[in-house]
Amino acid sequence: MRDQDQQFFDSFMLVIGILIGVIVGLFFLARIIAIDTQGEFVSEDPRVIAEIDQRIAPVGRVLLQGDEQLAAAQEAATAAPAPVDMPLTGPQVFNQACYLCHADPGVGGAPVIGDAAAWSSRIEQGMDTLIEHALNGFQGNTGFMPAKGGRVDLSDEEVIEAVQYMVEQVEGAE
Ligand code: HEC
Repeated sequence: MRDQDQQFFDSFMLVIGILIGVIVGLFFLARIIAIDTQGEFVSEDPRVIAEIDQRIAPVGRVLLQGDEQLAAAQEAATAAPAPVDMPLTGPQVFNQACYLCHADPGVGGAPVIGDAAAWSSRIEQGMDTLIEHALNGFQGNTGFMPAKGGRVDLSDEEVIEAVQYMVEQVEGAE
């Protein structure tokens, strides 16, 4: 009776051992198959590829002409709130663009602002002529007045404001 028990136990353990061996074998077999198939399958998934691309994307990028992203980037840049275009006032324009020559003592024969003697004959020409000379520049008897004082970025209106300001300074001094 004991021998039979022992025999049963031995073969029982043998079967259990073989089953465990089969389980372990199946486990590794499944892994090997998975590496060859599932792993490849996942790494080819467009969503996974997109995510990887996003993670390894460079922080900055040089866009060349013709690049479709360039148009989008330019659009984004121009969509930014444009600075409010505030026209400069006469005194502002004078201080930025005309002061250089028209302030005392007057550079290159430029009539000094507020100098009635230098301005009266000029004012007699009429405002239109003064403005025309200031906008387009002119070569007079005392020197050369560059168009818009060399500041072509100023609008006509801004230069006209400056001329009016300069004329007002003379009239105020009289
Ligand atoms: C580079 C020096 C220079 C700058 C800058 C300059 N001017 Fe003049 N401007 C002159 C000179 C020189 C004359 C005198 C020319 C002459 O009569 O021979 C003159 C003359 C004038 C006259 C008189 C024109 C006339 O018909 O007698 C006006 C008006 C004038 N400038 C306006 C301006 C205004 C407005 C600015 C600024 C936007 C300006 N100028 C900036 C040099 C300058």
